[in-house]
Amino acid sequence: MTGISLGIIGVGNLGGALAEGALQAGAAERVLAADVSSERLQELSAALGGRFTACSTEEAAAADLVVLAVKPHIAPSAAARAGAALQPGAAVVSVAAGVPMASIEAALGAGRPVIRAMPNLAMVVGESATALCANAHVSKEQMALAESIFGAVGSVARVEEPQMHAVTGLSGSGPAYVCLLIEALAAGGVNRGLRPEVAQALACQTLLGAAKLLREKGLHPAALRDRVTTPAGTTIAGLRQLELHGVRAGLMEAVEAAAQRSLELASAAHAQG
Ligand SMILES: NC(=O)c1ccc[n+]([C@@H]2O[C@H](COP(=O)([O-])OP(=O)(O)OC[C@H]3O[C@@H](n4cnc5c(N)ncnc54)[C@H](OP(=O)(O)O)[C@@H]3O)[C@@H](O)[C@H]2O)c1
Repeated sequence: MTGISLGIIGVGNLGGALAEGALQAGAAERVLAADVSSERLQELSAALGGRFTACSTEEAAAADLVVLAVKPHIAPSAAARAGAALQPGAAVVSVAAGVPMASIEAALGAGRPVIRAMPNLAMVVGESATALCANAHVSKEQMALAESIFGAVGSVARVEEPQMHAVTGLSGSGPAYVCLLIEALAAGGVNRGLRPEVAQALACQTLLGAAKLLREKGLHPAALRDRVTTPAGTTIAGLRQLELHGVRAGLMEAVEAAAQRSLELASAAHAQG
């Protein structure tokens, strides 16, 4: 999309990665960035060049799409400050984990288009799995713009807001589960004599390769698993151990527990007002 300005309020880990990804992919023509840290703004200006402009919250809020990427406890007050400067057709996207759309809506004032995004840390390398949900005031065009911006730093899925707890349990907390899997696979390799760095490289690439095959070939995981499982071969011997040790159930329960915890934390925050 040409000519699009992206306002980002808070350019830390996530906001900085979004600025870089959106500019590199051409999803935004310019990024207007506000942050309390002038060092961080200078660092990003030096890295991203003339299409990145450090500015005030109000100036960033006047962009075509405005992303709030401050810590969750600051998101409502940052939204309130941005609210007065918003353009009539601009939507606000909050990435603040666990902050419901209603809190942002209340801070911005009634009738404002609000999108909630749940990305993950892999945004820093352009591989986030981001879920988006929107309130009733968001137009198709505003949603398409948000999808193109977040699509520049990974994949995008649309969900309803109540499903954000499931998203948190799966792709929000998921990078930690996958790190545990990689660590365990690598340890297995080291146990059979591989050097640790070789074992980790093989484990990482195995996960990446399998995921890419599933995504690019549109395969069901069971279909790919069947293809690499020779009767009485090595893979079925390994798979049998994973089933005996409850790895499948463990991962399902991990998603469930994290989703439940997300729900509890949101309820506690709501009760505190
Ligand atoms: N990191 C992740 O993997 C991840 C995943 C999903 C969602 N999120 C969400 O993304 C948001 C940002 O996370 P992060 O990891 O990028 O945090 P972060 O690195 O701390 O970035 C937040 C930035 O906002 C700045 N800031 C603080 N108050 C501000 C204000 N009033 N106006 C403008 N800028 C302000 C901070 O400066 P100071 O550091 O000087 O305070 C910092 O540079 C959070 O709401 C988080 O829930 C993060």
